[in-house]
Amino acid sequence: MHLFRNIETMEGKTQTQLFATRLGVIAATVGSAVGLGNIWRFPYEAGVHGGGAFLLIYLFFIIVLGIPVLTAEFAIGRSTHRSVFGAFETLKPGTGWRWIGIIGVVASIMILSFYSVVAGWTLEYCYQTSFGELLQSEGAVFHNLFASFTEGWRPIVWTVIFLLINLIVIIRGVQKGVEKASNVITPILFILILIFCINSLTLDGAQEGLYFLFHPDFSMITPSVVIGAMGQAFFSLSLGLGCMLTYASYFKDSTPLIRSASITAMLDLLAAIMAGILIFPAVFTYGFSPEAGPALVFEVLPAIFSQIPGGFWLAPLFFFMLFLASLSSTISMSEITVAWLIKEKGWNRTGACALTIGIATVLGILCAMSFSYMAGMKTPWGAEFNIFNIFDYCSSNILLPFGGMLISFFAGWLVDRRYFMKTLLTPQSSLNIFAPYIIFILKYFAPFLIFVIFLANL
Ligand code: TRP
Repeated sequence: MHLFRNIETMEGKTQTQLFATRLGVIAATVGSAVGLGNIWRFPYEAGVHGGGAFLLIYLFFIIVLGIPVLTAEFAIGRSTHRSVFGAFETLKPGTGWRWIGIIGVVASIMILSFYSVVAGWTLEYCYQTSFGELLQSEGAVFHNLFASFTEGWRPIVWTVIFLLINLIVIIRGVQKGVEKASNVITPILFILILIFCINSLTLDGAQEGLYFLFHPDFSMITPSVVIGAMGQAFFSLSLGLGCMLTYASYFKDSTPLIRSASITAMLDLLAAIMAGILIFPAVFTYGFSPEAGPALVFEVLPAIFSQIPGGFWLAPLFFFMLFLASLSSTISMSEITVAWLIKEKGWNRTGACALTIGIATVLGILCAMSFSYMAGMKTPWGAEFNIFNIFDYCSSNILLPFGGMLISFFAGWLVDRRYFMKTLLTPQSSLNIFAPYIIFILKYFAPFLIFVIFLANL
């Protein structure tokens, strides 16, 4: 097995495509990982699935599956310097493994569609907290506000606006922009969340909220909680469809992989837990239901901001940062399809971006309409037909873990062990001792665990 180093031709551009600094590497991977998945999806999933039990299993999956699969994506991406299709083809030519890329393309477009709807909500809330009357209201009013907003046409417009912004950024080529922007956005977002966390800890419902989040009630653990927590672990780390693999193709060969994977996973986990500490005390203080689903965070956050000193300024800032954090995530999602069209199908960048975002816009509009004009739709056999929920569930809970299962199987069984080991080891790194464990998990544990969880859920 040999390394391919002809990276000059990558994306038709030159060497400058590599991330310039180690901080840049972390900023870009954390920028992809940290987003609505942590601040919107984690609290809503934890709320629906019983709080502490969900958090515990999510934690387990981040450490036992997340870090190893992330390391595997990093290793495959960095050692080949190719996109998701090319990387598997390079390591095992002619075996059909490149078709993992198809899962990546399908799942990333599904995620892009519903994710853009939620990112559109952040834009509306940014607007409303700046110019609207959102913060002059109180308590349960926020529930009705969210419902009346999503029932109308505005979310559709915001979804389209968000996707257009995304289009403009990716047409310009992402590498430099992503690195620079993430360097700034991510730290500010962390600081804001920290401020709001401290505030939440002073609320009357703090104890109840923290109990809900941190006390695992083992009787709550069902196959659906386990599959939800596994899906959330993959979703929040951007894993399973070659997104991190693509970013790792921009790593220098000296970038330490185990270290980068661990830092990314820990910061991602920290962001999710902080979001939980921010949301749940307020849920119980202001009398919301933790099981509100996708609406949860958008009802609770304005309630917090309306009470906090300086909330008038901090609220729009927070929603704006959340919008930017979403953008750094959707850029990484779009890149999977864009890279495929450019490299495999010979498209130019503008056309590839336009097609990707065009499809996402059509699907995104349908997702936005799931709460308004298409609400309550049923299939011919009487099941609920909510495209937003279907895309969310199928991509996160099925396609991402399925992709993760294939990637870990590939890394564990098909990549030459000595070669893989050499890729993982970094001179003088104390983390080298974990390399054999990571390979062991990828080979004997991860693929089978994911498979068993799928079976148990059938
Ligand atoms: N991880 C991001 C978040 O938590 C979402 C995301 C970005 C993603 N790229 C991805 C999810 C690729 C799955 C696959 O918000």
